[in-house]
Amino acid sequence: MKSKEGNNGMEADWTGGVAVVTGAGSGIGAGIARAAAAAGMIVVVTDLAIERAETVAGEINASGGSARAVKLDVTDEAAVRTLAEKLHEGHGGVRLLVNNAGIMNFGPSWEMGMAQWREVLDVNLIGVLHGISAFVPRMVERGRAGTRGAVVNVASLASISALPMSAAYVMSKHAVLALSECLSLELALEELPVDISVVLPGVVDTGIYDDSVMSRGKVDTGGRIRSLLQGMSTQYGMSPDEAGRIIFEKVQAREFWVATDPDLTRQTLTGRADFLLGQQPPQLPPAMVDSLRGIGTAG
Ligand SMILES: NC(=O)c1ccc[n+]([C@@H]2O[C@H](COP(=O)([O-])OP(=O)(O)OC[C@H]3O[C@@H](n4cnc5c(N)ncnc54)[C@H](O)[C@@H]3O)[C@@H](O)[C@H]2O)c1
Repeated sequence: MKSKEGNNGMEADWTGGVAVVTGAGSGIGAGIARAAAAAGMIVVVTDLAIERAETVAGEINASGGSARAVKLDVTDEAAVRTLAEKLHEGHGGVRLLVNNAGIMNFGPSWEMGMAQWREVLDVNLIGVLHGISAFVPRMVERGRAGTRGAVVNVASLASISALPMSAAYVMSKHAVLALSECLSLELALEELPVDISVVLPGVVDTGIYDDSVMSRGKVDTGGRIRSLLQGMSTQYGMSPDEAGRIIFEKVQAREFWVATDPDLTRQTLTGRADFLLGQQPPQLPPAMVDSLRGIGTAG
């Protein structure tokens, strides 16, 4: 039978392969985990919150798929490496790694404490680096033995724009896009058998706004902006399962750029390109200034 995995644009056959998804106990990660299971993959549903991971894995198993839950904090380098080592041996190794876990916090940059900067960067950026350094060398080894793998980094439209009151998040997502580009170039340069995708989700209705750093007991100086974004997400957001299906399909087709809302992504890219070429100071649309002014400080 002709391989389905020869070139970019061709669908990878991952039936029976192992997928690892971080932060998969909720939202987009849970959606990707369900889509991977529906495609016949054995899914390792990991999350800092084990009870959530167990719920998602239980639902997948109950509907005829194959999943198991693992507690994994992506900021714990040793734990990520231990999981990668364990999974390397069985089932042809890991075919798909999805670095999805992410958190947000809000507030003017000058009011953010160092602990708040670090918490977001540790999960959103260093967590992704832990995944790459633990899994990619093993995926390369497995790929050379015939089972090509894929790494998916979940970035954001914040990777190609700037937003006030969210600098830690925006910085982390710009960095995840840059990292994904570099990684893809490096693997291609050496013709190594691992594909990279970077996901720029549109608005997806998840718990990220009330499930961020602050709701884990820390102080949030941007409560009002958080509720504004949460409201938009509830009103206009796509369901996490629909987002997960779209993402999985594009990753399986070995696309580098993965958008759940291509029109919004193009609009944001155009805005970014115009901004960079125009070399004017950063500016928000006037309507946004009206709704955001004074919103970042405590309350
Ligand atoms: N929801 C959106 O509209 C949207 C838009 C753009 C990008 N994203 C990105 O999508 C990804 C998933 O976000 P979501 O919206 O599904 O959020 P979510 O809050 O619903 O899910 C995130 C999951 O990550 C877990 N998590 C948090 N810290 C962790 C850690 N240290 N280790 C392991 N797991 C951890 C949480 O327990 C939670 O289950 C994030 O990277 C986010 O930045 C989301």
